[in-house]
Amino acid sequence: MPVPIVALDFQTASEALAMVERLGDACRFYKVGSELFTAAGPQVVETLRSLGSDVFLDLKLHDIPNTVLGAARSAAQLGVRLLTVHASGGQEMVKAAVEGAGEKCGILGVTILTSFDAPGLGMAWGRGKVDVRREVIRLAGIAHMAGAHGVVCGGREAGALGRKYGPGLRLLVPGIRAENAPADDQKRTVTPAAAAKAGATYVVLGRMVTRAADPRSAMLAANLKPDAG
Ligand code: C5P
Repeated sequence: MPVPIVALDFQTASEALAMVERLGDACRFYKVGSELFTAAGPQVVETLRSLGSDVFLDLKLHDIPNTVLGAARSAAQLGVRLLTVHASGGQEMVKAAVEGAGEKCGILGVTILTSFDAPGLGMAWGRGKVDVRREVIRLAGIAHMAGAHGVVCGGREAGALGRKYGPGLRLLVPGIRAENAPADDQKRTVTPAAAAKAGATYVVLGRMVTRAADPRSAMLAANLKPDAG
């Protein structure tokens, strides 16, 4: 059963913390991404930690190895449990992130964003045809070789990654939607149940929870077990 992580994609700390209060014990793990971190900074991470929640800092770092090492070290000092870097930054960069993060903060390598489908990716990369699954497997290999805790992937690729790299490479799956719900800007969506079946270690629940009329009910309907890890 994957650990659910709710994405606090809000403009202010007060909106984010109001959502945490509404969810109560239905969620113990929160994702702080670039929107909230840019607005509210490390303080919001510290507040979430003081409330007893685990924090996934989703900054999707991509820079020279020395800079990424420093950023990962700073994130680990804040007490975050998970931090993302782009696997396409290369093995040396991901390795630097792992070194900077130390034992207590797991580095996740982002493979191909779930907002991409094959034509969109081909366009972005200036290539006619791109096999998304093949690229996800290739990029996950970089993260694996670099000693990352895991990777971020679409639910549709999770099964293949589990078979290829085994349980040592954890799988975090965003782009989660209830059956027949609108995909918004996401392209490679799956239901919570499909992500669980594919072997996801963690799932990120975003708008399907935070934009629901009743977020707590939407969270409980996903039928996942909250766990502070
Ligand atoms: O609202 P929604 O469920 O689409 O939110 C998905 C969340 O997961 C967003 O915060 C987004 O930044 C994040 N994410 C993603 N795809 C990735 C990595 C992270 O959608 N590959």
